Amino acid sequence: MLIGHLSDIHLFVRKPDSTFIRPDIADALQRIVADIAAFVPAIDIVVLTGDLTDCGAKEDYALLRELLAPLSAKVLAIPGNHDLRANFRRAFNDILPFEEGESAQYEVVHGGTRFLALDTVDEGNVAGRLCPQRLAWVEKKLAEPFAGPTTILMHHPPNVSGIAFFDNIGLVEGAGEFGRMIARHRGSLNIMCGHIHRPTQALWNGAFLAVAGSPAFQTDLDLQVPAVDPTVVDIPYAYFVYNRTGDGNFSVHPRYVALSDRTRSPCAGVGP
Ligand SMILES: [Fe+2]
Repeated sequence: MLIGHLSDIHLFVRKPDSTFIRPDIADALQRIVADIAAFVPAIDIVVLTGDLTDCGAKEDYALLRELLAPLSAKVLAIPGNHDLRANFRRAFNDILPFEEGESAQYEVVHGGTRFLALDTVDEGNVAGRLCPQRLAWVEKKLAEPFAGPTTILMHHPPNVSGIAFFDNIGLVEGAGEFGRMIARHRGSLNIMCGHIHRPTQALWNGAFLAVAGSPAFQTDLDLQVPAVDPTVVDIPYAYFVYNRTGDGNFSVHPRYVALSDRTRSPCAGVGP
């Protein structure tokens, strides 16, 4: 089974809130979708790990659904700190089996893999939180017997990246307890994230964890402390392709997509 992992599209219709976002992000997404749709062999499932839109407006999600329409792959999505949960849920209610309650969480089994969509958004804040209710939800799901591999989708990475700026606005609540939960889990488990606008891979409490890059803008590698605002850099954009075999193992490949070299919007705004 092939899985495409995208993140942090920050799509907008009117004008972006974010600093440095590329003005032609809709065109960029069209190119990425075309690349996924043409990939051989077919990509079975496309995962979007949050910040799907830049402002969370209804028309942003309408455009997103329109641009994703050429995909024959199954689409799974979760919100990020730039999304508005109510509009996100309304936009994806027809294809995602959201559970009752405020959080946008759900479980999907596809191609023998169990996907757990874990909502880390603390609306109104850039940083993420896993409150006791969300931790209890994912703990209960992980405790349920499942024969195949499990993939957890979450916008805010739970690990310490060493990039102080993003660690300061990372998962500020629940990461410790969630980490102990992951360490106790036995079986094939991996985590897909977004938020830091730079492709990153990590081993975290025994689980493989990857952050997909962003077509909206990407940030430089800065492992210095204290944190400074991230520098936006022109590094090639790639989404990840997971080639998963029947035994629960997988290899991960960056799939590069040429985007336009149009300059970024000079408008000031909030960060990643
Ligand atoms: Fe983002």
